[in-house]
Amino acid sequence: MRIFLDTANIEEIKRAARLGVVSGVTTNPSLVSKEGTADYEAIIKEICSIIPGPISTEVLVEGVEPMIEQARQIATWAPNVVIKIPAGTDGLEVTSVLAKEGIKVNFTLCFSLNQSLLGALAGASYVSPFIGRLDDAGHNGMDLLEDIVEVFDHYQLDTEVIAASIRHPQHCLTAARIGAHIATVPYNVLMQMIRHPLTDIGISRFMSDWKQASK
Ligand code: E4P
Repeated sequence: MRIFLDTANIEEIKRAARLGVVSGVTTNPSLVSKEGTADYEAIIKEICSIIPGPISTEVLVEGVEPMIEQARQIATWAPNVVIKIPAGTDGLEVTSVLAKEGIKVNFTLCFSLNQSLLGALAGASYVSPFIGRLDDAGHNGMDLLEDIVEVFDHYQLDTEVIAASIRHPQHCLTAARIGAHIATVPYNVLMQMIRHPLTDIGISRFMSDWKQASK
């Protein structure tokens, strides 16, 4: 399972890039708006220059024609940009047009297997089921992820499944067990994935034992 970072924060992206485990970034309008900039193009271009992998960038308009027009524009910003199109009837039409033009789409805000399947059939490169938001609504997000992975495997679809709206490390390991292609994680979850108190205790014991022996 590959790891994408779910943020638009440049410092977080730079720090995570140095760890050598992040192969893409997902942003959304809420994440970008938290960064206090109105220059969408500049921040996305900067992210695209830090991480060479796919950088998901959502359209900021609604309706078929406005989404297609904006997606085509965003697609010129960098070679690694991927356009996030929200699931829905308009989103499906937009995805099929963009896919035919060779523009990569992340079919986002998926909350059902049917939405994900249709996104894949329309030519999306990625589908993003929002695990945490389903859990918040009293459903089991991982059940949906499992269904999508199983059905996509069964029909050997090329579309990759991104476990999105990840809230904690348990989500990551379940997503990996299920066989999601990618988990997109907030920076704090990435940090939680690597830390373990027994590792910290182990390091400090090794250091103090060595200090004693070398006195
Ligand atoms: C994914 O592409 C989305 O940006 C993200 O995972 C949404 O997560 P949230 O439910 O924590 O906002």
